[in-house]
Amino acid sequence: MDKLGFKKNQKKVLVTGAQGMLGQDLCNILEKEGFLVIKTNRSNLDITDFKVVEKFLNEKKPDFVTHCAAYTNVDKAESDYDTAYMINVVGTENVAKVCSKLDIIIVYISTDYVFDGAKSSPYIPEDKTNPLNKYGLTKLQGEEVVKQYCKKYYIVRTSWLYGYYGNNFVDTILSIVKKPEIKLVEDQIGCPTWTVDLSNGILNIFNKPYGIYHICGTGQASWYEFACEIFMQTGLKVNVRPCSSNEFPRPAKRPKYSVMDNGGAYRSWKEALRNYLMLTKRI
Ligand SMILES: NC(=O)c1ccc[n+]([C@@H]2O[C@H](COP(=O)([O-])OP(=O)(O)OC[C@H]3O[C@@H](n4cnc5c(N)ncnc54)[C@H](OP(=O)(O)O)[C@@H]3O)[C@@H](O)[C@H]2O)c1
Repeated sequence: MDKLGFKKNQKKVLVTGAQGMLGQDLCNILEKEGFLVIKTNRSNLDITDFKVVEKFLNEKKPDFVTHCAAYTNVDKAESDYDTAYMINVVGTENVAKVCSKLDIIIVYISTDYVFDGAKSSPYIPEDKTNPLNKYGLTKLQGEEVVKQYCKKYYIVRTSWLYGYYGNNFVDTILSIVKKPEIKLVEDQIGCPTWTVDLSNGILNIFNKPYGIYHICGTGQASWYEFACEIFMQTGLKVNVRPCSSNEFPRPAKRPKYSVMDNGGAYRSWKEALRNYLMLTKRI
């Protein structure tokens, strides 16, 4: 132990957005793996304030920053672009600048919504980006500032997250089973991803070369298929019908196809879902 109480060689990871859905699972998993985790949130580290970021990182001197904090309301970002830009672009720029100056490795969490969905085979990290909505645009601009300022970076694109610590599709669907009929879109296809699997993926990335990675559940589903699988695994008999996105117009346009190639490194989304449903005592 040194005089600050750190074990010799114990790596320090600072997590932004530590109270978010991903942040909470990630912090738990990092701690279990023996990292010293510095959990930050909007009140102790507002990423939009450069001076605060500079002072905080200078004091804590982490080895890694895992930057999970973000403006994540996809629909609201259409009418509240300035706030989304401030958090996702300016906030990320602040973190990236200080990481670069202090030689800290940054892990930036990005999204499948950087893609436009025009492809019909899984997106690889090198594919052309072309976001359809403002949230996706700000997350892509976040990627760009990370690349601009940092040499030691990991950009992790993920998709369709669900987890114990946040409002998510699985829990929402299970809360509305008593409705006589549930309609869900079948013309948006992506990769459901459990935050625990993503967190384990982030942990494993620390030993890999710097660059862009796709971490998501293996396989693909439409929102309709995702719901059918939830009902199948939980044994619930629910009247669920497929429909088109046109029936449910939303402020933000979504890609029709945002399946990502994860290099075969992660388990199937159906297996992960089963694990989540078991842990949350639904099966
Ligand atoms: N959810 C998904 O399906 C999905 C898909 C692809 C990628 N991602 C990415 O994955 C990451 C984690 O997503 P998530 O779903 O876990 O998000 P989340 O639950 O919304 O958590 C985001 C966290 O960021 C914090 N935050 C917002 N503004 C901040 C600021 N100015 N300073 C410091 N912290 C701030 C929020 O705090 P407050 O609660 O105080 O606002 C919140 O705790 C994000 O980068 C997101 O873009 C998510």
